[in-house]
Amino acid sequence: MAKTGPIIVLDPGKERTKGNDALFMNINAAKAVAGLVQSTFGPKGMDKMLIDKMGHVSMTNDGAIILKDIGIEHPTAKMIVEVARSMESTAGDGTTGSVIFSAALLDKAEKLVKKGIHPSAIVKGYRIAEAKALELLDRSVIDVSKENRADILKKVAMTSITGKAPDVHKELLAELCVKAAEIVEEDGFVDVRTKIIRVVELQRRVEESEVIEGIALNTGVLSHAPKRIENPKIALLDTEIIANKTKTGAIMVVSSPEERQKIIDNERNDLTAIAKIIVDAGATAVFSTKVVRGPVLEYFEKHNVFVSRPMEEKDIENVSYATGAKIVRNPKEFTESDLGGADLLERDTKNGGGKTFIRGGHNSTVATLVVRGETLQHADSVDTALDDALWVIKSVIEDGKIVAGGGASEMAVALGLSACAPKAGGYDQRVIAAYADALEELPKTLIRNGGLDVIDLSLALRAEQTKNKNAGVDVFAGKVTDMLESGIVDPYRVKANTIKAATEAAIMILRIDDMLRATITRDIPDAPPSHMAASYNGMAPPTMNERR
Ligand SMILES: Nc1ncnc2c1ncn2[C@@H]1O[C@H](COP(=O)(O)OP(=O)(O)OP(=O)(O)O)[C@@H](O)[C@H]1O
Ligand SMILES: [Mg+2]
Repeated sequence: MAKTGPIIVLDPGKERTKGNDALFMNINAAKAVAGLVQSTFGPKGMDKMLIDKMGHVSMTNDGAIILKDIGIEHPTAKMIVEVARSMESTAGDGTTGSVIFSAALLDKAEKLVKKGIHPSAIVKGYRIAEAKALELLDRSVIDVSKENRADILKKVAMTSITGKAPDVHKELLAELCVKAAEIVEEDGFVDVRTKIIRVVELQRRVEESEVIEGIALNTGVLSHAPKRIENPKIALLDTEIIANKTKTGAIMVVSSPEERQKIIDNERNDLTAIAKIIVDAGATAVFSTKVVRGPVLEYFEKHNVFVSRPMEEKDIENVSYATGAKIVRNPKEFTESDLGGADLLERDTKNGGGKTFIRGGHNSTVATLVVRGETLQHADSVDTALDDALWVIKSVIEDGKIVAGGGASEMAVALGLSACAPKAGGYDQRVIAAYADALEELPKTLIRNGGLDVIDLSLALRAEQTKNKNAGVDVFAGKVTDMLESGIVDPYRVKANTIKAATEAAIMILRIDDMLRATITRDIPDAPPSHMAASYNGMAPPTMNERR
């Protein structure tokens, strides 16, 4: 038989890590991500200072924001960041806790692998533990009734805000969020993303923050605009045509002064005709992204039409959503069907008069939360806290379920799992017990970040839990108390999603036993992709964006 040389199956340009080396490397990456946010967990968590490329500084302890802004490179670490992102999009809160839990699951798994348990056995055990954990969590659920709903919504919002916004404003901000959610609630559903608009106003006090039913626009209006229009017919314009066509400095070639006058008159007539189309369609208020001036403005003023100063696109989109008005780019084709409607349009005559309110939009009920703060950082941190609060309120309105906070639900589930683990026997028993230990990391981190004694308080919490499922750690009081009585409650959705998202990510990472990484582009970070020539007519190729 002819001899053959070694068979090369793999691309030699790929770097390969396999077996436990790959697993442990991935686990370390996951733990490193958790390490980034661990100290921020809980109401006494620390803040991170984030400085962007433009030098803007922001302070936050919100897990999702930190992980998004920090620019994670490692592929496995990115999978953990995905856990935070999925929590943010499904529950709007609980991002830090889920990352910590996922890394804790992997940390416990690493120990089991080192003791000779195969990752597949851990994956199987974690699946059993996850199902059991969700079952146990259901037993800790407290149903929200019609009578106690308002009170619970406020408490759940206050719990999520604690540590994120100044304590003195906690109650007021929670009340504002509940009010905003109740305004837009429809068939038991709250659309936080599109129906609650948040506007940040600086150099004002936080306690001046307010909720408006409808839209509050920061945009000023032209002085002649009417102050109040009932049942306004709203036109939205995003076009240059409404400004004077002839730009300053433009060169006009004419043979006589009469000809010049004729051109100017024609242009005036064209613009007036456009304004007439809009007014004839029935518009009584015009909001525009570009400045309205010249003959168009004169025509609108003559017909008592409200005209806004130039507005941001985002604001125009909000008005469109609330009133049903279409954003028109070619006003020559404006028709009545492009108009939107509302109950009332009003100009703010107080506080410097810089606001316009559109109440009772005919397309959709929206609410505006005007967040006020002394400085940008201040208003920004309040705004981030309100985002979490609105989401927890949404979850509780939609699900009608809460659980006790301060580590109560996690400890109840962990103890339940530890109790049922021996029945599973074999490897499953050890894996389920490891899952329970990982879950206990959450109350322990809360206690540690509160500057309290982890051993003493977690023992006290375990002991109290045998009598009361709602026992948790109040990190401000520094002791174990009934969380319902202390008003520290979390949405069921946040806790259930934490279990699901964190287990899923941990399992995904545990199943990887081989990593093949292309190394060539790493050595030449600025190399153009292979489809691109090395030079163009002797010139260097266009610069590449930094590769991620
Ligand atoms: N006074 C308190 N004492 C103890 N625990 C509290 C108290 N107030 C809130 N908590 C707990 O803090 C935890 C939430 O902390 P935090 O908001 O920092 O993390 P997260 O919600 O997981 O992440 P993020 O808010 O960054 O998305 C919840 O488990 C909640 O029950
Ligand atoms: Mg939170």
